[in-house]
Amino acid sequence: MAEAHLFAENNVRIKMAEGGSYAIKTEEERIQLNLPVFPRKIADLDNAAKRVLTYGAELDADHPGFKDNVYRQRRQYFAEIAFNYKHGQPIPRVQYTEEETNTWGRVFCELSKLYPSHACKEYLQNFNLLKRDCGYREDNIPQLEDVSTFLKDRTGFQLRPVAGYLSARDFLAGLAFRLFHCTQYIRHSSDPLYTPEPDCCHELLGHMPLLADKSFAQFSQEIGLASLGASEEEINKLATCYFFTVEFGLCTQDGQTRAYGAGLLSSIGELKHALSPNAKVLPFHPHVTSKQTCIITTYQDVYFISKSFEEAKHQMRQFAATIKRPFEIRYDPYTSSIEVLISPSDVCKVIESVRDELMVLAHVLSKLQCRVDK
Ligand SMILES: [Fe+2]
Repeated sequence: MAEAHLFAENNVRIKMAEGGSYAIKTEEERIQLNLPVFPRKIADLDNAAKRVLTYGAELDADHPGFKDNVYRQRRQYFAEIAFNYKHGQPIPRVQYTEEETNTWGRVFCELSKLYPSHACKEYLQNFNLLKRDCGYREDNIPQLEDVSTFLKDRTGFQLRPVAGYLSARDFLAGLAFRLFHCTQYIRHSSDPLYTPEPDCCHELLGHMPLLADKSFAQFSQEIGLASLGASEEEINKLATCYFFTVEFGLCTQDGQTRAYGAGLLSSIGELKHALSPNAKVLPFHPHVTSKQTCIITTYQDVYFISKSFEEAKHQMRQFAATIKRPFEIRYDPYTSSIEVLISPSDVCKVIESVRDELMVLAHVLSKLQCRVDK
């Protein structure tokens, strides 16, 4: 194969395949281009899921389940499922105990009373579908595999089990592939209304209904894509924006404030507080919000409100464009992989494929117009 000259923006000279198109396929090529390491295929996330920060199978002394050996063995069981899971496998079904189901039932009932007056309409619509299709009931903890299948059909999002907290970088990277790292264990039964960490009540009741909304799913993915290869400082800004939107976001609907953040929609006390006159609420502006301190032990000092997901998405897109990276990326939904775009010819190839799709759509449009005109 003849070689064409080439360069990269960072002055590293590289070889380029004939025709000017270049796809970075190997580790050597990545190093030559001085590109940071980040997952390029959805299966690469199998490694990230093993890098649990807390709690995983080990609990701290202040965890409500620390002195409960049965609970600790149970956490070990869930951690093994998560650590052994590989992308593409069905998520193992769990036989939840009566105690675990009772804990879920208490949370489910209390929150279900608040949703009609506190949750945004997209949440309510999808919560009803999850009750219909995924076994969301007081006496049943839904299975991650069923919810993952449901989400894949609606927005292309899918779940993979995780044993505890991941770093912001690893968690956000999952979103870039429309993959949500989801805990499968449940909080300790001693206090069903409190958990020091995400558990399946938080994920299933807080996150899943909104991940079934197309616009919200795209918003989530855009935060994830912006995170790939970003500096630590930029990751912190993105994680803070994620925290105050996806976890604690408010929106205005029909003149009323409603919650869409999963941290609110899975916390009885904070959901009531955030929508009360006592809460401080500011408009969501990523440049301002990204400087706010995240609080995980008590209620937030301030909440941020958007007019709609569309507005929040538009703002996040503009914010993401300010993140400096020596390369551009594009998500390929057909292969669930990230393409790195480093040269104009790479972009030309993408434009060609988009142009082909537009031509198909233009053809369809003209056929439909012909039918209307007849
Ligand atoms: Fe969460």
